[in-house]
Amino acid sequence: MSNDGVNVGRRRFLVAATSVVGAAGAVGAAVPFVGSWFPSAKAKAAGAPVKINIAKVEPGQQMIAEWRGQPVFIVRRTEEILSNLKKVEGQLADPNSAQSDQPENAKNEYRSIKPEILVLVGLCTHLGCSPTFRPEVAPVDLGKDWVGGYFCPCHGSHYDLAGRVYKSQPAPLNLPVPPYQYLDDSTILVGVAEGEA
Ligand code: FES
Repeated sequence: MSNDGVNVGRRRFLVAATSVVGAAGAVGAAVPFVGSWFPSAKAKAAGAPVKINIAKVEPGQQMIAEWRGQPVFIVRRTEEILSNLKKVEGQLADPNSAQSDQPENAKNEYRSIKPEILVLVGLCTHLGCSPTFRPEVAPVDLGKDWVGGYFCPCHGSHYDLAGRVYKSQPAPLNLPVPPYQYLDDSTILVGVAEGEA
């Protein structure tokens, strides 16, 4: 039963990753100089940083990119989402992310460089399924107290919209924040934190 769940989660990620690669290919064909900047598949597999254009992510929406073969979730958080982060702190296992991974420049209450842009490695810290983005408030299946977050379909872990895990979940830690930096207002580089070579 649980193995079925894991497979479903992996399959979902593969579909998402494939569509992102397709989009990058299309951009490369239209703008050769930009296309040539992208690292080769071999370099990506070895851990090369990945440049991601976040301009088209609407408020309250998520895009999924790929870095080191892992999904990277990027969410443009609204003022309402940011204020809801405070409301759930008492229900979280590690609200200050003391035990969880994030680079120095994301060690703050929002776990991000700019409060409105969230960047996470999208793999559950339980057994590595890819959690589902559930930004809606009080959906029937997640209950009236749900203020938006992530739900892991494999064994039911819940996270908020800073990737922080709720108490008493199968997942022990918050979703990791990868090293990243801004190249300009609409472009981030995932894989290298500010000040790193
Ligand atoms: S992999 Fe088990 S809850 Fe996410």
